[in-house]
Amino acid sequence: MKEIKIESLLNVYDTLEELPRDVIALMKKAMEARERSYSPYSKFGVGAALLLENGEIITGSNQENASYPSGLCAERTAIFYAGSQFPDVAIKRMAIIAGSRLKTTDKPIPPCGACRQSIAEYEVKQDAPIEIYFMGEKGKVVRSHSLANLLPLVFDKTVL
Ligand code: THU
Repeated sequence: MKEIKIESLLNVYDTLEELPRDVIALMKKAMEARERSYSPYSKFGVGAALLLENGEIITGSNQENASYPSGLCAERTAIFYAGSQFPDVAIKRMAIIAGSRLKTTDKPIPPCGACRQSIAEYEVKQDAPIEIYFMGEKGKVVRSHSLANLLPLVFDKTVL
């Protein structure tokens, strides 16, 4: 038997203002997208903004449904749009902001497992890292240099 230790490296910033101006601008796009969240059931709004290699910015917000599983997270709304509209353009960065309307969310909210799996698909496809930033409504911001860093032992096309 041998043990394998898996490590992830994250950068944690105390405030959004510590980040480079272009990252702040992308997070502001995610904040605007969050305003368009349709989340009457969970009352939890999420916004995501993607920066593509061609400079295009794609945003998405969570879209819920009375049939709960039919809803979709903000990150997948955004990345599927990017994949369908700009299939040959690499995704450089994703900014995510999430928080409840019932309480203050002051800690960074990472993308859920299903979103990580979906984002991983595009990272593997483009063979270049997608940088991820995520935060709550206020407070610290976390940076991951890639999606792979957030999803060790990924299931991807290489096994098929
Ligand atoms: N949600 C996202 O949009 N992204 C995530 O990564 C986690 C959860 C949404 C789904 C649902 O509309 C609400 O947040 C509560 O789960």
